[in-house]
Amino acid sequence: MNNELKILGIAGSLRKGSFNKAALRSAISLTPSNVTLETFDISSFPLFNQDDDNNPPEVIRQFKGKIRASDAILFATPEYNYSVPGVLKNAIDWASRPYGDNAWEGKPVAIMSASIGMLGGTRAQHHLRQTFVFLNVYPLNSPEVIIPNAADKFDSAGNLTDQHTKEKIQELLKTLSVWAVQWREIKQGMEM
Ligand SMILES: Cc1cc2nc3c(=O)[nH]c(=O)nc-3n(C[C@H](O)[C@H](O)[C@H](O)COP(=O)(O)O)c2cc1C
Repeated sequence: MNNELKILGIAGSLRKGSFNKAALRSAISLTPSNVTLETFDISSFPLFNQDDDNNPPEVIRQFKGKIRASDAILFATPEYNYSVPGVLKNAIDWASRPYGDNAWEGKPVAIMSASIGMLGGTRAQHHLRQTFVFLNVYPLNSPEVIIPNAADKFDSAGNLTDQHTKEKIQELLKTLSVWAVQWREIKQGMEM
């Protein structure tokens, strides 16, 4: 049984000093040994325009290709005004189009969120889960990785210093990996 896995990490913040980008960077070194985690930078994506549905920019084609080549997706997102940042929703919308060519289809996914506030982005996580329904992805419900008071959990170079958060990210990656391997086997069984 091949249990090598590729996870694609996507951050919902473009900010240079983003805690969510920092959490994703930390996750790279917290993956199980059979897993590689690569990130995709969405900062150059234009605003989605349905006129370009059938003729997306090259960067969107690459993004969709990376999603399809991945076994699972890990989102790390801030909460903006109790919801998902527009840049992340924009990236999600691009990769879901045109209708019938949804790159997210059937992917195992997991979420983590970091916020400087006390609730750690939970409301953004719940809004993201609502979008997941139409994307037809399979999100993990647990563990929930919520990083409140993020400014206290990273050092000035953006390294994650909080042991509890490291353990939660590790647990999330392990659970996502197990789920992705199981899902791959289920799909292979369905193709037989
Ligand atoms: C437009 C905007 C809206 C925000 N709204 C929320 C919010 O609803 N809840 C929250 O916990 N933090 C909110 N914040 C604060 C973010 O949690 C904080 O800026 C966080 O560091 C952003 O993530 P990043 O570090 O990955 O860029 C908001 C920040 C911005 C810029």
